[in-house]
Amino acid sequence: MSKPGTKFILSVIAIFLWLGSGAHAFHPDVYTPRVPKEQLEEIQEIESPYETTAERIELGREIFFGKGLCVTCHSKNGEGVQMPGHAPRNLTDPKWQDVRTDGELMWVLKNGSPGTGMPQRVGKDITEEEGWNVIQFIRTIRAPEGRAAEIN
Ligand code: HEC
Repeated sequence: MSKPGTKFILSVIAIFLWLGSGAHAFHPDVYTPRVPKEQLEEIQEIESPYETTAERIELGREIFFGKGLCVTCHSKNGEGVQMPGHAPRNLTDPKWQDVRTDGELMWVLKNGSPGTGMPQRVGKDITEEEGWNVIQFIRTIRAPEGRAAEIN
């Protein structure tokens, strides 16, 4: 009869251990890869099968502001809204744009960002092609050098 109680206590302990395992577990540095180490090299190499065109950027913008729901967390300008827990990435940060390949962004769209509010998008509300289009759009909102890094 004590089983559910034990389970509950164990989950509470697990949550505290997880939270206590360091702020880094919950707020990893902005520039730390989100893709697990063992897959990183392979994922970084993946390129979009679609050429960048004005049409695709426009379609990507529509996904960002529409059914992708990106705008609800990433805000109209891509700098992100305030939210509890791990803040959305500032997508305009030029340094962040440089350290991430398109392959890594697609991995996050397919898997979400573990331990954060970033949900799986590709395969849920949007298709893989729509995902590549929205990545083309994200590449266009890069801020000028030297700006935005502090907003992360
Ligand atoms: C419910 C809120 C929410 C929604 C909806 C959302 N995101 Fe995010 N997103 C986040 C948060 C929080 C992070 C920060 C995660 C992190 O630092 O790893 C993030 C991170 C990201 C990243 C950066 C990951 C990295 O490698 O640093 C990208 C790219 C991204 N989101 C794109 C999108 C796109 C495109 C959409 C819509 C198709 C979207 N997000 C929808 C909350 C959201």
